Amino acid sequence: MEVKIGNSQLVLKQGDLTEEEVDAIVNAANPSLLGGGGVDGAIHRAGGPEILAQCKKLGGCHPGDAKITSGGKLKAKYVIHTVGPIWGGGKEGEPKILAQAYQRSMEVASGNHCRTVSFPSISTGAYGYPIDQASRIALRTILNCLKDHQGISEVRIVLFSFEDYQVYARELRQMTIPM
Ligand code: APR
Repeated sequence: MEVKIGNSQLVLKQGDLTEEEVDAIVNAANPSLLGGGGVDGAIHRAGGPEILAQCKKLGGCHPGDAKITSGGKLKAKYVIHTVGPIWGGGKEGEPKILAQAYQRSMEVASGNHCRTVSFPSISTGAYGYPIDQASRIALRTILNCLKDHQGISEVRIVLFSFEDYQVYARELRQMTIPM
């Protein structure tokens, strides 16, 4: 599924983020930036030790911030490591931190002249963020950022499961149905 925003577009797809042939993929990391499971583990496995070596020099990453390394052996040129919030019920600033993670990742991508960026569904795995709420924040933040970062021509959200893809597609349809 895709939506045009000016000269840019937002694409939803099901797949493996590590296979993406884009300028940058975004990693759903933890504050240590020293690897983990989920998409973090997949990126380090596929990208090789060079990514971890660079991460070790970054001094960690606060939730809502984002930092960049090379893509190592990945098809993507860069990996933008961001940290989403751990879901604690929704009253601990989680929505704001999740939006910041997407926004900062878009800013870092734009600052490094990336034209194509692929995201995972940040915080909806080990961090437990309900995916219906997280998807609305992800889509709204990315759509707003595309207006501010005209240099980014395509943003993809790559969902690992078909069920997750259906959630995002439903939310995107609801956002873009003409009132
Ligand atoms: N490609 C795309 N999406 C993936 C992949 C992959 N190869 N592997 C997992 N995912 C999806 C999950 O299905 C989930 O929808 O990424 C989403 C985010 O899940 P996690 O990877 O668990 O990330 P998150 O919920 O943000 O938790 C981050 O988990 O891996 C650790 O080090 C990481 O501590 C951090 C925490």
